[in-house]
Amino acid sequence: MNREYLTELRNRDEISVSFVCLGNICRSPMAAAIFSNRTKDLSSPVAIVESGGTSAWHIGQGPHPQSKRTWERAGYNYEHKASQFTAQDLERIDLILTMDSENYSNVIGLGPHEEHSKKVFMMRDFDSAIESGQSVPDPYSQDDAAYEHVKELLESAIDGLIETIWQ
Ligand code: 4NP
Repeated sequence: MNREYLTELRNRDEISVSFVCLGNICRSPMAAAIFSNRTKDLSSPVAIVESGGTSAWHIGQGPHPQSKRTWERAGYNYEHKASQFTAQDLERIDLILTMDSENYSNVIGLGPHEEHSKKVFMMRDFDSAIESGQSVPDPYSQDDAAYEHVKELLESAIDGLIETIWQ
């Protein structure tokens, strides 16, 4: 984990953050929902939040109903429309959080230079209670319990991320 870069982000007035998964309908919009609600009253830096998918499969679609239901049940409000994460996004965004190692390699593959790769992290690497390199598992076509599990993993990791940047 490039801690030096994260320290640099702490000193900015504003940072753009994008969460990335495969379809951009289940995991990354849920992460954006949790993160945007939990950072809405924080400044120095102010967080500008979005999400994307490495695939083009669901561009323009709303979130998966099970995902949206899960975050709304937990009290998070968030509007989402799916988009694909592009090489321009890798240039533009300050902090990129990927859900699994496949998402990570796909994002790094869009711009394999240190100036880009230093901005890309595995989401769960911010969960200090676990070893590095672990994934947020894909809940697509699974039951509601799988989405609940994803929500819990994301909440822990996002708490760690907020602590890293804002505390
Ligand atoms: P996500 O889940 O990457 O968490 O949005 C998926 C959504 C759709 C598909 C796979 C994963 N799909 O195969 O269409």
